[in-house]
Amino acid sequence: MDHFLYRDGQLMAEDVPLARIADEVGTPVYVYSAATLLRHFTLFDDALGKMPHLVCFAMKSLSNIAVLKLLGDAGAGMDVVSEGEYRRARAAGVPGERIVFSGVGKTRHEMRVALEGGIRQFNVESEPEMQALSEVATAMGVIAPITVRVNPDVDAKTHAKISTGKKEDKFGIPIGRARDVYRVAAALPGLKVVGIDVHIGSQLTDLAPFEAAYIKVAELTEALRADGHEITRLDLGGGLGIPYMRNNEAPPLPMEYGALIQKCVGHLGCEIEIEPGRLISGNAGVLLSKVIYNKSGEGREFLIVDGAMNDLIRPAMYEAHHDIVPVIEPSPGVARQTYDVVGPICESGDTFAKERVMPPVKEGELIAFRSAGAYGAVMSSEYNSRLMVPEVLVQGDQFAVIRPRPTYDEMISRDRVPEWL
Ligand code: LLP
Repeated sequence: MDHFLYRDGQLMAEDVPLARIADEVGTPVYVYSAATLLRHFTLFDDALGKMPHLVCFAMKSLSNIAVLKLLGDAGAGMDVVSEGEYRRARAAGVPGERIVFSGVGKTRHEMRVALEGGIRQFNVESEPEMQALSEVATAMGVIAPITVRVNPDVDAKTHAKISTGKKEDKFGIPIGRARDVYRVAAALPGLKVVGIDVHIGSQLTDLAPFEAAYIKVAELTEALRADGHEITRLDLGGGLGIPYMRNNEAPPLPMEYGALIQKCVGHLGCEIEIEPGRLISGNAGVLLSKVIYNKSGEGREFLIVDGAMNDLIRPAMYEAHHDIVPVIEPSPGVARQTYDVVGPICESGDTFAKERVMPPVKEGELIAFRSAGAYGAVMSSEYNSRLMVPEVLVQGDQFAVIRPRPTYDEMISRDRVPEWL
């Protein structure tokens, strides 16, 4: 459930009409609902129930510091994958002890920044990284807490570009080698092993791959304990999928996911961390856009809108489906139309939807791309020298611009012409 509903004939974000935001901020613009973000965080928090746990928001999905502050103040931790994300989390007031550092290529500099600023744990993904982290920590006179990310060789049955838990993927160390790798880690002076990490992919719509991976992690926990390691923490990654309103898909609920975790690893007495991104932010955001032209092509009707692939790249990159709805509520029984919904960018990939059957919309009218809160704004760019898309946060009847649209002067003045030209 989210808080983008029609009321009095208009699509609202909580108690604010989206049309009002379009009027005041312009389009395209991302609009997030604070109540939806908090609700989704709480669902996970509740789902893990009495197990000691921390829900670390995968902030790669939506990293505006206003959103991070909202979730951080509610008790969320953060899963970060770069110095930039670490700095954003800290700027939002999230304490280091609630930040986990993931990623296959952390640099020594990034390790130093996190150790200086405070960190809950590094999720280490290779032996060379382990070596580097131990050296950095030793030089600083500190001990770095780590988990090792294991690759369980489980097929997440999701889009190839976002599957991460098969043996041919670049992530983690093969689970079959884990005992050897933990032995190496335990012998390194700058590291303290605290647990195990796993993440098998994103937009999973079935619990079975999670179950397969978590059972392997439970077995590994016992084997590592028998080897003398203190395994007190399990980071079980993110990846639970959301409904994108295609084919009435119904991914499992956080409550079912929590019950699965309890069943697979609850008996081990570990502190549980999870790293959900999309399920918290995805349906908490829409991309609001305006129709520039209705254009008739050869047997096709094009809806040319002012948002483009630089603002929302998911359809071009992952063939992703985003529901598209008019901001003015269509009258019941109105005849649907079939559109190709496209942006103004000069390549055919700038297509949001082909042959989409939806209520008719006309030039000048507003539409909303649903489920765009996750991996929307964070993946936007200035391609075609279009201005970076702004972001707005709604809470109740108030809204605020949390990232303004830059001016053209601001965009252009970032470039430098060398003296010798
Ligand atoms: N933890 C790790 C280590 C990850 O790599 C990811 C996502 C997550 C957590 C969060 O996964 P989530 O709960 O959001 O599924 N840009 C793509 C998604 C890339 C996901 C990358 N890793 C998209 O737009 O679908």
